[in-house]
Amino acid sequence: MIIAQISDTHIALDTPDADQRIQDFASTIADINALKPQPDVIVHTGDIVHNGRQDEYALAVATLAGARAPVYVIVGNKDNRENLREAFSACGYLAPNSDFIDYAIDDYPVRLIALDTLSSGNNKGDFCRERVRNLIDLIDAETTKPIAVFTHHPPFEVTVGPDRLHFESRDIMSGLRRALQHSGRVVAVFSGHVHRAASGHVESIPATVMPSIATTLRKGDYPAEMKTRPIYHVHRFGPVRGFATETRIVGTPPLPT
Ligand SMILES: [Fe+2]
Repeated sequence: MIIAQISDTHIALDTPDADQRIQDFASTIADINALKPQPDVIVHTGDIVHNGRQDEYALAVATLAGARAPVYVIVGNKDNRENLREAFSACGYLAPNSDFIDYAIDDYPVRLIALDTLSSGNNKGDFCRERVRNLIDLIDAETTKPIAVFTHHPPFEVTVGPDRLHFESRDIMSGLRRALQHSGRVVAVFSGHVHRAASGHVESIPATVMPSIATTLRKGDYPAEMKTRPIYHVHRFGPVRGFATETRIVGTPPLPT
């Protein structure tokens, strides 16, 4: 199974780099469309738009409509739950009336579980008791397949950059980490939010963060020729070795298969 992960496109209409953000998003989708073999799915790990506005989501939906693979989205701290839900309602996988945007996709050899780590009053992540219960219910709903979990905020301390903790408190992050270890079937956690690449663990579960697709918001130092080339992750799953992650620079010739 192959998953292309994209994150933090921050589509906006009111910033000087608005056109660049749209171009970064579109060129990434074009690059994914050219992958051989095609990914089974594309997962966007949040901050799809920058101000949560309907017109921003309309642009994002139009860009994602060009993707050849099915697309799943999760909510980031810059997203607006209601507008996101409305924009992507036609896709059919988002429950219309739930408090949180969390769900499982069971159509593939690896189950996909998408989590909502949005806080109502903070850019950092939250994961209340209701969401912990939801996660355990989602994990328990199927007992045979490995699971990949997608979160906007990474559930581990990111030691690169100034801010290590991306949840409101260590206790909140610990609650999420305990729930992720329930059943032992979660084999990977994939996140965004930090706008730079990082890796860590949830005890024995490997966890990674990918850079922002928006090149103007990407953190870290890159050579000049890389400044306008988005970076995304391709996660390939094998039943014995688990996930192996390739970092793709948009416009680079694909690896030989
Ligand atoms: Fe972001």
